[in-house]
Amino acid sequence: MRNTLLVTGGAGFIGSNFVLQQMLDESWFIINLDKLTYAGNLHNLEGIAADRYQFIHGDIGDRALARQLLEKHQPGAIVHFAAESHVDRSIRGPEDFIRTNVDGTFALLEETRAYWSALLDDRRNRFRFLHVSTDEVYGSLGPQDPPFSEITPYAPNSPYAASKAASDHLVRAYHHTYGLPTLTTNCSNNYGRFQFPEKLIPLMILNARDGKALPVYGDGKNVRDWLYVEDHCEAIATVLRRGRPGETYNIGGWNEKPNIEIVQTICDLVDEKLPQAGRSRRELITFVKDRPGHDRRYAMDARKIERELGWKPKATFETGIRKTVSWYLENEAWVRDVTSGSYRQWVATHYSG
Ligand code: NAD
Ligand code: DAU
Repeated sequence: MRNTLLVTGGAGFIGSNFVLQQMLDESWFIINLDKLTYAGNLHNLEGIAADRYQFIHGDIGDRALARQLLEKHQPGAIVHFAAESHVDRSIRGPEDFIRTNVDGTFALLEETRAYWSALLDDRRNRFRFLHVSTDEVYGSLGPQDPPFSEITPYAPNSPYAASKAASDHLVRAYHHTYGLPTLTTNCSNNYGRFQFPEKLIPLMILNARDGKALPVYGDGKNVRDWLYVEDHCEAIATVLRRGRPGETYNIGGWNEKPNIEIVQTICDLVDEKLPQAGRSRRELITFVKDRPGHDRRYAMDARKIERELGWKPKATFETGIRKTVSWYLENEAWVRDVTSGSYRQWVATHYSG
């Protein structure tokens, strides 16, 4: 029987990087279930080997579809990325976040439980459900606090973080109650190719390129722990292969930086690649009204995954951000494609005034 992996949300930023990376392992057949919201983009997956990959357009909340996919393709594992992922959107309209992140994960867990319960012993023991989550479930750190570890109590502050926390709790309960072999990864901020330009790094690269204002929330001193997306994908693959069912693993880049420093670095790299005589992109930095409930600092203690599974990040921020800036400047067609219609509407509404 072929080795089938069901990926949800595989047309999004991290999911598509993960699918492309895992396709290098020729033993996988990958099914990608994605609703193609504004954040899902099939162009990310162009050129993929069609004989070992199938795209299914659908919603994780559609239980009949999930049931049919599981029965037909008999996956040995599920990696669950599908989610509404942007904090600012969750503040403006939380409903979709509850529908997909909470109800959708619940629906997927229920159908997975039914499928897994009926597997024969060997396949049932080897099956894994890997849930991809975030550091935001732990809330916000003060400047001197130690980083979040796997035993830090949950304290989500945005509707997005609360919806992810709820999904993490459901996954935990399905292991504890039903024995479903789950794995949960909680990761810090990712950056790299294919990230939708509503998020800090691609937004700043494109605005800097176009000579537009660079909107920094509050005082710009909020801290995030940045991880290059390919490192995150490798961490997920490592947990999938070697993680212990029922465990959670924190993933991070050991790379805390205040937002203003990130934006200044991007300005300098765009200046280097597209010089403008006598002018620096730093002049475009504009401090704007803060995000409501804006978490001050995130930092991940990623020692467990290193100690138990041998994963640690490979990319440095200096190499990763350079590659990322070059990618956005060199992939105009991709950028043009995603920054039409609904994207323009979001930017106009969110940054007006
Ligand atoms: P993204 O917004 O770029 O992509 C989400 C994908 O899910 C899209 O392809 C979208 O079409 C799909 N999707 C949304 N609702 C769906 C539904 N109901 N059914 C099926 N597909 C649906 O997100 P991302 O940044 O790639 O994040 C992926 C996962 O990783 C999320 O669960 C997120 O919480 C988590 N995460 C993200 C980061 C980060 O920095 N981006 C960090 C840690 C964890
Ligand atoms: O920490 C992991 C999380 O990282 C993921 O779970 C989320 O899915 C992902 O979106 C990301 O959340 P953040 O809110 O940290 O990412 P974002 O890129 O939206 O913002 C990063 C920081 O930059 C944050 O402190 C807010 C700030 N910011 C963001 C935007 C879009 C600005 O100052 N200006 C902006 O225009």
